[in-house]
Amino acid sequence: MLPDPALVVLVGASGSGKSTWAAERYRAAEVVSADALRGVVGSGEHDLGASADAFALLEQVVAARLGRGLTTVVDTLGTDAVRRRRWHDAAHRAGMPSVAVVLDTPAALCRSRNAGRDRPVPARALMSQLASVAAALAELESEGWQVVRVEPGGPSGAEPGPGPRAASEPGSAATGLRGVVLQLSRFPAEGDLLAWLLAMAAAAEEAGLTGLALMDHLIQIPQVGRAWDPIPEPWVTLGALAASTTRLQLGTLVTPVTFRAPGITAKAAATLSALAGGRTFVGVGAGWWEREHTAYGLGFPAAGERLDALERGIETMKALWAPGTKPYAGRRVSLPETTSYPRPAGSIPVLVGGGGKRTLRIAARLGDGCNVPSDDAGLAKLEHYLALVRERGRDVSEVHATVLDLPLVGSDRDDVWTRVERHRGRTPAAAFASLHHAGTASEHADRLAGLAERGVTTAFVAPVGLARPDDVLALEPLATAFG
Ligand code: CTP
Ligand code: MG
Repeated sequence: MLPDPALVVLVGASGSGKSTWAAERYRAAEVVSADALRGVVGSGEHDLGASADAFALLEQVVAARLGRGLTTVVDTLGTDAVRRRRWHDAAHRAGMPSVAVVLDTPAALCRSRNAGRDRPVPARALMSQLASVAAALAELESEGWQVVRVEPGGPSGAEPGPGPRAASEPGSAATGLRGVVLQLSRFPAEGDLLAWLLAMAAAAEEAGLTGLALMDHLIQIPQVGRAWDPIPEPWVTLGALAASTTRLQLGTLVTPVTFRAPGITAKAAATLSALAGGRTFVGVGAGWWEREHTAYGLGFPAAGERLDALERGIETMKALWAPGTKPYAGRRVSLPETTSYPRPAGSIPVLVGGGGKRTLRIAARLGDGCNVPSDDAGLAKLEHYLALVRERGRDVSEVHATVLDLPLVGSDRDDVWTRVERHRGRTPAAAFASLHHAGTASEHADRLAGLAERGVTTAFVAPVGLARPDDVLALEPLATAFG
């Protein structure tokens, strides 16, 4: 597997298969070819008189692309050490890895391919190219290149993208939440909302996803859309989805404790569980967006108070879900009775959203799981959470270590970059692609399998630009990433 983004410099004689190799793996725009540029500034690919102009242009393209952090595949013979150094330095300045892909094609095969071409390279020129390639090969490592040798007709092993990873052991996270849960955060402003929701949920079941989660906000948040974009109340909406689905786990990510008295959330979740035959989880958090509270006449106390409320809220919900009607006297909450019917049809895991120190402690002490971003900082928090769980003598296999992931998923490399351009707004393409791990579904599946190896049990996935059932079906390869 090759790093991506990266500078990739092809090294090989005429007919060794450089252009063919590049075309099979990269978008046309990612490949900068001296031959193609001769065709741009000269009469055709073989117009050697146009070489100087073509190479000047090539240098400019390479520098511009690397400066933007974009993958750049240089398709020349690759035997000029001075140019190689310049490209290598430019990649280094851009913080990108430099890979030399050497087409290790036997001389005889290059010769016979060359002979079969429209305008073969003279035999003597090919001989000298083969010698230069051998000389370059001896230097590449010491020049600092990551060297990849490609055998002719060999397996097309070197693909750009994250490395392959062994499927992880299926863990024993207490309930069926392990896997990929689709988070719907954007809803159509027109048309039949219920029909759309049911179609999206049906696609999630067909794709083998584990569950479906809804945000709990009163106004669409600026990270997702505009304030006048629709955002339906989640518990009502999940009730509708309970009726049309049979396998998906349903819940919120996350319900702020500031919105409803926790007993009311407990009642809603217990009812959903009764309607859905279990299949219910509750994401909870301290709330963060003051505007929606004020607009809806809700209080928005200071952070410390909201976290106190989070503790009391989890305790209250768990007390009400427990069997029977007996009084509850806990550390923070006392209830004269805990009469709550219908009973939930199974245990309801409580996932605590947020990565603050106290939030993680609350998650480890009172909750059944955490939810943090899927980036490196989030994963560090997740590791901290798992350590806290162990410290408390709890079994990590019984908690849900969950992440929120915002992937950009395309059907192939071209489609991925079309989507990057469509959605990036003013963010530079390379930064946007990296933030959303832009790639194909199978690349995302490999990445998620890597997260599973780091202890993640569940990825809440909110794909960039998700709009139609087909976009959900495209997530099928991700469904098995957690074993
Ligand atoms: N070819 C092939 N099997 C491969 C690779 C290449 O049959 N695995 C054929 C291609 O179809 C082409 C010829 O070999 O007809 C040369 O391949 P190409 O990729 O064009 O070679 P380059 O190294 O790019 O040659 P040049 O330096 O002349 O551009
Ligand atoms: Mg070529």
